[in-house]
Amino acid sequence: MTEVSEVTEATQATEATRATEATEATQVIEVTDMIDTAENPDIAENAEATGAAGATQTYGAAGAAGAADTVVLPAVVEGPAPAALEARAVSAWFGSHQVLSQVSLTMPAGQVTALIGPSGCGKSTFLRTLNRMHELIPSAQFGGEVLFEGEDIYDASWRLTDARRRIGMVFQKPNPFPAMSIYDNVVAGLKLTGTKANRREKDMLVEESLTRAGLWKEVRDRLRQPGGALSGGQQQRLCIARALAVRPRVLLMDEPCSALDPTSTRRVEETIQDLAGQVTIVIVTHNMQQAARVSQQCAFFLAEQGTPGGIVEHGATDAVFGSPQDQRTADYVAGRFG
Ligand SMILES: Nc1ncnc2c1ncn2[C@@H]1O[C@H](COP(=O)(O)OP(=O)(O)OP(=O)(O)O)[C@@H](O)[C@H]1O
Ligand SMILES: [Mg+2]
Repeated sequence: MTEVSEVTEATQATEATRATEATEATQVIEVTDMIDTAENPDIAENAEATGAAGATQTYGAAGAAGAADTVVLPAVVEGPAPAALEARAVSAWFGSHQVLSQVSLTMPAGQVTALIGPSGCGKSTFLRTLNRMHELIPSAQFGGEVLFEGEDIYDASWRLTDARRRIGMVFQKPNPFPAMSIYDNVVAGLKLTGTKANRREKDMLVEESLTRAGLWKEVRDRLRQPGGALSGGQQQRLCIARALAVRPRVLLMDEPCSALDPTSTRRVEETIQDLAGQVTIVIVTHNMQQAARVSQQCAFFLAEQGTPGGIVEHGATDAVFGSPQDQRTADYVAGRFG
């Protein structure tokens, strides 16, 4: 905990120069608070990356405007239970082009579900429907239901930010804010989803999130260094920590290792295995060995010529790989196409 108190002091020293804040134990954190947009011109992209495209508008304006949409984290640092996710008859379009048709899949709580299949069959699109990122794409349309612990995230009672906060996302290419410190990168996950935390809570969350992402020991002595100075694999684990900072109950990962070297890939896979049980994970991967190593459930997607993508076969990973029921699955997992 020594490091944490040092960080607290460092944070206080820095923040003392900011005239308007740090006067109360709990402060509403605004996106503009610690993020220097001049220093981080990619703020908009990253806001989307952390799953908070809507939040930047709300929080960029003023504290009062954002207050109605903020949540306060519970003081107790105890992660919420992983949540079950169930897609029911999910269809998706880009304009008139239908790319998914009637996809149903149960992603059990606390397990890792791998989505596999050839390029262009709709895996990423499906993943984006699971936390309502699909609807941010111009011309995108959606049909069906996505049940989070039995509640449809597309129901009018669910706000976009509710979905993003509970269902986090990590992308193919590590996308930390490069000029922002490691500490602030993790905290950015909170700010961008409009989550309140006081300084002590932030310190605890930074340590908790970096620990869960398997990065704490490597960076605890240099939390004030820029995120961009980390290796690619470390940057990806930093992005995982940023996603975990809001304590999501589901984490979506779209080919999180495809830009990484084998050693970093192994490290991220270990992180995924460590997180399994604490958070429900849905991972897209082209790497069959990876799917076999990290997942308990597996779904094979396919879009046959001119038709929208769908699931050919799904079930326990051992069964999908060891005794596939459909010849197309057998051919794909054996590397005969795709
Ligand atoms: N933003 C978009 N606008 C229009 N069409 C899109 C868009 N994104 C994806 N598509 C189309 O939707 C289909 C499914 O794409 P998607 O990216 O979901 O496939 P994927 O299975 O993730 O492929 P890959 O393995 O290459 O990542 C493809 O035909 C693709 O061209
Ligand atoms: Mg994809």
